Amino acid sequence: MSDRGRQGEPSSEDVRFGREEMLRLFQELSESGRRMLILTDHHTRQHCLPRLPLIGFSNSHTFSVPPGESSKSMDVVTGIWQALSDHHFDRHDVLVNLGGGMVCDLGGFAASCFKRGVAFVHVPTSLLAMADAAVGGKTGINFAGAKNQIGTFQSATAVVINSEFLDTLPLRELQAGYAEVLKHFLIHDADAWHRAASGLHLPTDWNPVLEAAVRTKLHFTMADPTEKGIRKALNFGHTIGHALESHFLQQTAMPPLLHGEAVAAGMACEAFLACQRRLLRKTAFEEVWQTLHRIFGKIDFEVEDVAGIAAWCLQDKKNAGGKVNCTLLKGIGGFALDQWCTLKELEGCLQAYHSGFEERILP
Ligand code: GLY
Repeated sequence: MSDRGRQGEPSSEDVRFGREEMLRLFQELSESGRRMLILTDHHTRQHCLPRLPLIGFSNSHTFSVPPGESSKSMDVVTGIWQALSDHHFDRHDVLVNLGGGMVCDLGGFAASCFKRGVAFVHVPTSLLAMADAAVGGKTGINFAGAKNQIGTFQSATAVVINSEFLDTLPLRELQAGYAEVLKHFLIHDADAWHRAASGLHLPTDWNPVLEAAVRTKLHFTMADPTEKGIRKALNFGHTIGHALESHFLQQTAMPPLLHGEAVAAGMACEAFLACQRRLLRKTAFEEVWQTLHRIFGKIDFEVEDVAGIAAWCLQDKKNAGGKVNCTLLKGIGGFALDQWCTLKELEGCLQAYHSGFEERILP
């Protein structure tokens, strides 16, 4: 295992697949004599940690944080830094992030700052983290109520994707993670999309699906590690998706949406917008909507809330000069960056979604 991925330079990434590769990586870590701190949340400590091949490690420790977004905070980061310090970590040692997107974002951030960067390895355990969060070098914590406001770009020293961990996930979380997989296919891999669209529900064999999804992710992140241009394609579905997520977070009477559930709805709305702009054929939109609807259903919100939800889009990190910047589909397997949208257009998409695209105003 080499030292690589210094801050701001997430060159190529060492992404490995399967249990054998996981065993090999831990063998390499053990032989290298590095100290190792394994970061988990309380769920992955219980369900995933016992599956790591740790026999023979003389110098490994664990640090566990509460599950959920609230752990992506400075207080928790300080706790991790304290643990690294207590165990006398240096840059040669390694933080192993065993968990979903939250653990990968948090651990990556803590490691990328400690002593200006100690090595870290991601062992993602959720579908969302395997297909998206663990690859591409984004790290971060939340700040002042906004997601991922503080963070760095630094790739993991290695990422090992073992789909066997997926059997530790609740179905709802597995399903939500599939939205990011489908997003990758929609913007870059039309064949994989058509295969997914012809399936009735979730795949049964995750390995080829994950390999295809990660291939797409790497295509974008290696070309544009710090999101100056083409990497923005990965934001398809996220402008309206994040707005829905924020809206539901504010509604104390309703349970929050999972990120992937919001992204699935965001992709349907933004595909509709692409169709209105003649970037996507009507038949292709129909296929996108029917597939997303079959897998994720439809999110319920009040039609009176449409303007408020659309207004959340003004918070999107890609915006400039008070205008909303969307990534839209350009056919299946393609994308159009920097599509500037008005609030009225975004409200129109949300209204159409609300009615199940029944009163469509499509060209
Ligand atoms: N999750 C989007 C990105 O990594 O750029």
